[in-house]
Amino acid sequence: MLLVTPFVLTLLGTMLGLEVCHRIAGKVSSATDLYYPGSTSYAADNKHYAISSSQASMCSVEPGSAEDLGIILGILGETNTRFGVKGGGHATNQGFSSTTGVQIAMTRFNEVTYDCTTQTAVIGAGNIWDDVYKILNAQGVNVLGARVSGIGVAGFTLGGGYAWLSNQYGLAIDNIVSFELVTPSGTITSVTEASDADLFFSLKGGNNNFGIVTRFTLKAFPQSTVWGGSASYSADNISVFTAASAKFSSEVSDPKAAMIMTYGYSGSPAQLSLSGMMFYDGPTPPGGIFDDFLALPSLSKDIKSRSFYDFIMSLEFSADNDRVVSNDIPVLDYSESTIKGLIDELNHSASTLFTQGASLTAFSIEPFLPTIFDHAPANSSAYPSSRERAVLLTNLNFQWVGESHDSVFHAAAGAFTQKLGVPGAPRYPNYAIAGTPVKDMYGEEGVRRMEATRERVDPRGVMRLTGGFKV
Ligand SMILES: Cc1cc2nc3c(=O)[nH]c(=O)nc-3n(C[C@H](O)[C@H](O)[C@H](O)COP(=O)(O)OP(=O)(O)OC[C@H]3O[C@@H](n4cnc5c(N)ncnc54)[C@H](O)[C@@H]3O)c2cc1C
Ligand SMILES: *[C@@H]1O[C@H](CO)[C@@H](O)[C@H](O)[C@H]1NC(C)=O
Ligand SMILES: *[C@@H]1O[C@H](CO)[C@@H](O)[C@H](O)[C@H]1NC(C)=O
Ligand SMILES: *[C@@H]1O[C@H](CO)[C@@H](O)[C@H](O)[C@H]1NC(C)=O
Repeated sequence: MLLVTPFVLTLLGTMLGLEVCHRIAGKVSSATDLYYPGSTSYAADNKHYAISSSQASMCSVEPGSAEDLGIILGILGETNTRFGVKGGGHATNQGFSSTTGVQIAMTRFNEVTYDCTTQTAVIGAGNIWDDVYKILNAQGVNVLGARVSGIGVAGFTLGGGYAWLSNQYGLAIDNIVSFELVTPSGTITSVTEASDADLFFSLKGGNNNFGIVTRFTLKAFPQSTVWGGSASYSADNISVFTAASAKFSSEVSDPKAAMIMTYGYSGSPAQLSLSGMMFYDGPTPPGGIFDDFLALPSLSKDIKSRSFYDFIMSLEFSADNDRVVSNDIPVLDYSESTIKGLIDELNHSASTLFTQGASLTAFSIEPFLPTIFDHAPANSSAYPSSRERAVLLTNLNFQWVGESHDSVFHAAAGAFTQKLGVPGAPRYPNYAIAGTPVKDMYGEEGVRRMEATRERVDPRGVMRLTGGFKV
């Protein structure tokens, strides 16, 4: 008699998985390669920004064409095999772009071309923004992408996309002309407002629910020298820093200016530190905008006129070997009292989290103009659920060592938003913690429209075999 022990089940699973990998390898063209544990490509394909987002897949596949990607999705669907789709690998929720099944790594979709007649750029879904900026800046243009180095084009764009240029042009999704999409049935299709309004709407914020995007056509804008960088300050200066942050948030109306201010505890014993990223879309900012920050004595400072690409490359973050959870804390303003509420909660949570292996607990305030959602019509995108009022995201970021503490940090990150987030304000898919209800991001109407679209383009539920926020 065969004893079906958990061990036997795992072994069977592994064998079935490898069978799927071999089947894919037998069907795709020579443009596509598969990799197995032990190879450097396999390691790169499975690697994520946070080790807590990485999983050991059975094999990884680097599709080299949209046709091959269609074949791969077909096999995964037929065999009911779990998979992950990775762009830049910056998702901080485990299983969103990682898997114990088949890891699809999009790196070979690395096209970046600018068309000056249409003033649009075609960008492959496997790029990271650094490479996009480098190529486009050399041609004097730019697109709306991530605000720091290393982030993937695909996840950022499909979740919404808050950029340094958002005060001028809106979210990344407000500047999409078309998506090239491989649908779960393997069809390669160009999705525009005119070709399929419901699918176009749904892809703008709906991430990986509708298929795999292979390239984006984005509006491009002229880009010359910018001014910016980052500076850090002593916690002794917290009241001046906070007053300056509140003043910047409420008073600066120049759409070319933007900032991110971060409050974070790190070290042992935990010490508070303050930092500011500053951006101006021009070689020198007009007086007044950043003066309060520039007058504060800084501990470190790298702010100057430079190319946009150089500015982004100066903003580099690594989670090292820490585990990571993030969440958004939507608020309506960054008044001094709102910021103080966030600081008090950070202080309060630090006292327990640093006894549980914390290496960093931080929040970043991200002031944007109240007009940020006015750059696209109402109901033109799945996220945000409403464009009636601007919502300020506020990014929460906890890092720690030791998987056994995961639940403590996840619970604390959830509780932080529960306590200080504005109820009913749209939650941001690219920051929200796993488990956040999709109606909190897209609204009930939006979810209904997305569900109907999903049933039409993915009747067999192939995209439910991969993680993420599911409609
Ligand atoms: C250090 C840091 C800085 C950040 N800065 C910003 C910022 O300035 N502005 C901002 O808005 N957000 C920012 N984010 C959040 C960021 O937008 C998300 O982490 C986003 O998911 C990253 O995209 P990615 O391609 O790197 O991620 P991945 O982990 O590769 O993918 C994220 C999600 O997208 C799906 N996906 C990936 N590729 C495809 C595809 N081709 N087709 C369909 N689905 C796909 C994945 O399956 C997954 O669900 C930041 C995050 C970090 C960690
Ligand atoms: C900033 O903090 C330092 C002490 O570290 C102090 O000497 C200085 O006066 C403070 N500056 C302001 C503007 O508060
Ligand atoms: C929180 O604030 C109190 C009072 O200012 C301070 O004594 C304490 O050290 C802070 N906690 C941490 C973790 O820094
Ligand atoms: C957006 O959609 C909602 C729900 O379908 C509808 O009530 C509203 O009128 C729409 N708004 C616009 C501006 O079309």
